[in-house]
Amino acid sequence: MSKIKAAITSVGHFVPPKVLTNFDLEKLVDTNDEWIRTRTGISERRVAEGGGTSDLAVPAVQMLLKNRGIGAEEIDVIIFATVTPDMFFPATACVLQEKIGAKKAWGFDISAACSGFVYAISLGAQLIETGAYKKVLVVGADKMSSIMDYTDRNTAILFGDGAGAVLLEPSSDEKLGVLDHKLYSDGSGGQYLYMSGGGSLNPPTHETIDKKMHYLVQDGKAVFKVAVKGMADVSEEILQRNNLTGADVDWLIPHQANLRIIDATADRMGLDKSKVMINIGRYGNTTAATIPLALSEWWHEGKVKKGQNLVLASFGAGYTWGAVYVKWAY
Ligand code: UT7
Repeated sequence: MSKIKAAITSVGHFVPPKVLTNFDLEKLVDTNDEWIRTRTGISERRVAEGGGTSDLAVPAVQMLLKNRGIGAEEIDVIIFATVTPDMFFPATACVLQEKIGAKKAWGFDISAACSGFVYAISLGAQLIETGAYKKVLVVGADKMSSIMDYTDRNTAILFGDGAGAVLLEPSSDEKLGVLDHKLYSDGSGGQYLYMSGGGSLNPPTHETIDKKMHYLVQDGKAVFKVAVKGMADVSEEILQRNNLTGADVDWLIPHQANLRIIDATADRMGLDKSKVMINIGRYGNTTAATIPLALSEWWHEGKVKKGQNLVLASFGAGYTWGAVYVKWAY
């Protein structure tokens, strides 16, 4: 029996032009370029000067549509992964729908932090596999600068703004496309990476502002330990489930939180660094955007080819983590 698979048929990305370097951060907090580079791999990140996360997504989606040669009105579904939605509601997927003119689409947001994109693409692929939809737009975008405390050196140095998007369509060949996904959550990790203010538990008040509860908080050391293991474990698991070894993998597209986490994952998979998409040095951690942003950059440089084996892997707040196996279809 032939089974429908979802192929990624187009990609797009966008980062805002303003660059915030490690040297700029030296002026804001007690840190230095050398510490940031050696501990994280980050040299600079981008920050948006106005607008919301949807405004980062619009140019990414326009690049994707141009690349595919279709109009937004052909999109059936929009899945928008973000932890920095324009507003709590309406969903940023709906905001984006209006801005790009995706008149016939329905859409929703996914809140899974740094794993937002792997969650979203797994769901999007299954919407295609049911046969119900033909064009699913999956966006990962975050304006992390909107929830950064630029007086906290533990977090301010890590994050940046960006957007990436992929289009999923039925694959003409069932051996190509999104072939497998494995996702996890562990709510016991919630205490180590969160933003406590502004939700129903702590609605905004003068007190929540004074206590800086509208900023991201992270216990970096605690997250680091589980992230290194979690991302490597799930990447190894996705290989084993599909009878692959590191030698079969053409590209690892890891979430970009820390170069040391990326290196540990590549080592566990037995992968050479040359097979890992790494742009953390230029953008820092753009949360839901890291994976589609890297994928789109590499594709536009002509480095991603039909038939190649790609593994997408992430770890983030929740905790959430997961990996996706894609055989590139075009
Ligand atoms: O994407 C979501 C998932 N998030 C992650 O995966 C992030 C995981 N965590 C990390 O990437 C790392 O833990 C960090 C990059 C956040 C921190 O690196 P670390 O190697 O764990 O450093 P640390 O927190 O253990 O700090 C080491 C030292 C401390 O000084 P002492 O106590 O040894 O004297 C810190 O106070 O470095 C100090 N430090 C800094 N120094 C300069 C911490 N932050 C900074 C800074 N600049 N920005």
